[in-house]
Amino acid sequence: MVSTIGGGRRVSSYKELKAAVIGVGAMGQHHARVYDQIPTAQLVGMADASAEAGGRIAQLHHTVAYTDYHRLLDETRPEVVTVAVPTEFHHQVALDALEAGCHVLIEKPITATEEQAQELIERAEVLERKLMVGHIVRFDPAVQALKERLKAGELGRIFQVRCRRLGPFPARVRDVGVVIDLATHDLDMMRYLTGQEATRVYAETEQEIHSIYEDILVGTVRLTDGTIGILDINWLTPTKVRELTVTGECGMFLVDHLTQDLYFYENAEANSERWNAISLLRGVSEGRMIRYPVRKYEPLKAELEAFVRSVVDGKPVPVDGWDGLAALRLARALVRSGCDGRAVLMREL
Ligand SMILES: NC(=O)c1ccc[n+]([C@@H]2O[C@H](COP(=O)([O-])OP(=O)(O)OC[C@H]3O[C@@H](n4cnc5c(N)ncnc54)[C@H](O)[C@@H]3O)[C@@H](O)[C@H]2O)c1
Repeated sequence: MVSTIGGGRRVSSYKELKAAVIGVGAMGQHHARVYDQIPTAQLVGMADASAEAGGRIAQLHHTVAYTDYHRLLDETRPEVVTVAVPTEFHHQVALDALEAGCHVLIEKPITATEEQAQELIERAEVLERKLMVGHIVRFDPAVQALKERLKAGELGRIFQVRCRRLGPFPARVRDVGVVIDLATHDLDMMRYLTGQEATRVYAETEQEIHSIYEDILVGTVRLTDGTIGILDINWLTPTKVRELTVTGECGMFLVDHLTQDLYFYENAEANSERWNAISLLRGVSEGRMIRYPVRKYEPLKAELEAFVRSVVDGKPVPVDGWDGLAALRLARALVRSGCDGRAVLMREL
């Protein structure tokens, strides 16, 4: 029920929340595009420190841009705001948006430090505003399908979760290293898919081409139930790889995030009648490979729709500040482990 009137503005008969974006660089411009597309939101404006960037994206969406985000908040009075400025500014910008009465979706990682994250979570609670963190990988439809299959017990006990996130260095990321920038996605995945918390992490990190921070990580994460997490993450590989495998009693699931494909490599032993009878894994052998059909969907669209829905329905957001803080804590523990050359026990932090 969306129609267009002169100047290209959309008019909708659905209940729309007034939405705004602060920081319309590489990621924020997509938040602006998606708010402009979804019928439950009306993009009322954006702010970017760069007048050129803000002006260009605002023009695309027939709306207004400010260089000072305080003016955006004062003059357009958005109900929901995405914060997509560089990580070092997340805390202040999100705090100001919460104080202005907005529900806030903050890009990952939640903030640069745990103290900042804690303060944001507490302020959001006091102000009764929603605070969601943009852990977008959860909204990959292949991950959603995998989560459903894990919940249904199709893998049996989980042994290992392995995440590979490789690619060239994005020159615009100057304020954090690859662990805080990328591993937060995968640490969140490990918690989300297994429902377990990490007890111990260990990292090998190195700084090869980045001028300040580490740009390669090989890490391990031990989860409460003994599941082992493996992180293979860098900004040094000339081709982009985004892959997740979950291995358990009944076989191995593989998600290719780039194509949103979900595969299952079956353990023939676990599929046999003998295993069903004794419910105890005695061996592993190669079985069928199944490619499950997954309906492709833009993860960012699913994420913003879920955020807006939580605000409209007064329900909890699907990824809250505590999830963001948990991923950040683990990432910072990995950075520390990489520097000290020792495993970090999470309970000792
Ligand atoms: N979810 C994902 O997959 C994903 C992908 C990329 C980036 N990100 C996150 O999004 C955030 C932004 O990253 P990016 O790659 O888009 O960075 P970017 O540098 O491309 O864009 C940041 C924008 O913020 C603007 N900005 C800086 N300070 C500002 C301020 N005080 N007020 C208004 N605008 C300001 C800059 O001018 C720039 O246009 C980071 O936290 C990053 O981790 C998430």
